[in-house]
Amino acid sequence: ERTYRIAVIAGDGIGTEVMPEGLKVLGRAAERFGFRLETQEFDFASAEYWTQHGRMLPEDWFQTLSGFDAIYFGAVGWPDVVPDHISLWDSLLQFRRGFDQYVNLRPVKLLPGVPGPLRGREPGDIDFLVVRENTEGEYSSIGGKMFEGTDRETVVQETVMTRTGIDRILRFAFEQAQRRSGKLTSATKSNGISITMPYWDERVAEMGEAFPEIEVDKFHIDILAAQFVLHPDWFDVVVASNLFGDILSDLGPACTGTIGVAPSANINPTGELPSLFEPVHGSAPDIAGKGIANPIGQIWAGAMMLDFLGEAQAAEAVTSAFESVLESGQTMTPDLGGSASCEELGTAIAHAVETA
Ligand code: NAD
Ligand code: IPM
Ligand code: MN
Repeated sequence: ERTYRIAVIAGDGIGTEVMPEGLKVLGRAAERFGFRLETQEFDFASAEYWTQHGRMLPEDWFQTLSGFDAIYFGAVGWPDVVPDHISLWDSLLQFRRGFDQYVNLRPVKLLPGVPGPLRGREPGDIDFLVVRENTEGEYSSIGGKMFEGTDRETVVQETVMTRTGIDRILRFAFEQAQRRSGKLTSATKSNGISITMPYWDERVAEMGEAFPEIEVDKFHIDILAAQFVLHPDWFDVVVASNLFGDILSDLGPACTGTIGVAPSANINPTGELPSLFEPVHGSAPDIAGKGIANPIGQIWAGAMMLDFLGEAQAAEAVTSAFESVLESGQTMTPDLGGSASCEELGTAIAHAVETA
């Protein structure tokens, strides 16, 4: 029997509520398609762990997780207990960087039965992929505070962009564009950010020469954000730096009705170290504990994990399952306009996997 070893980290808040639904659905898919998911749960990368141990991760986290085929992650962050820059930098961002998961794939799709906020848009009108650089850029720990406690107090934080780092994400994005519609959009800000962003544009132009059949356009991030709302149908593959990709990957799903459905695949394409699959959303302290979180982001991330593991049919069954449940409109969480619980929606999708 094909067996995959999955590290499961639920994290904080609604991470602990959507994770069981993700596992329920994936378990059903494994049964149906004849493979085994050997899961092992870890309690680190959570505020609870931090309270007990004074750190977010055990010292040997890298060795502990390295041997898994993939990491299935919920959400981390509980700002009342641990400041966000500590909880995130010392957990999720360590995974992304330590495992060199330089590709962050974030599909954006208007799903059947989901009322989006944009007038006149039907499923099919919004269906694009944000390819986010995931290991460098604006997310850096280089910088510092000077003249602390004086009127001259000054903080500096550097953006780091390397030729290798930019080229590898661009190549991946161009290849995605080849497989999809042949169109690539680059998010830039080379009018205002005068060193790193012109360099990004330069690398895009050079990579474009290796992919002459791909139609490339670029937008400054400000107008790109506006065009996501006004003309989401223009986009197919959107490549962006770490911070711009972060922003676009909440904005895109918001244009499809809810960020609760959005998945995120943090991929190390070499396969030498594990990739990590998680929803785009965070721990949502405002709704945590109520049992009303939408589990589809976690479930869809699970489908991306199955696809990555080579179980394409099972992945397809999972996405068809949540699409059919959404289309029927009978089991919707509050963010989708309904009153179903997280568990009810997860169970409905798990059931649909059997027939999808
Ligand atoms: P968030 O994504 O947790 O929540 C934003 C808003 O969206 C909230 O109103 C929330 O209720 C709603 N929402 C999010 N997911 C939902 C779902 N599945 N179903 C229904 N509604 C949902 O963002 P935030 O409030 O900025 O962050 C909360 C905490 O999570 C912070 O500690 C933050 O740093 C962390 N965070 C973690 C991740 C991650 O683990 N990858 C991602 C984003 C934020
Ligand atoms: C995401 C999150 C993280 C990010 C935060 C929590 C550090 O917003 O996965 O989109 O900025 O990458
Ligand atoms: Mn984000």
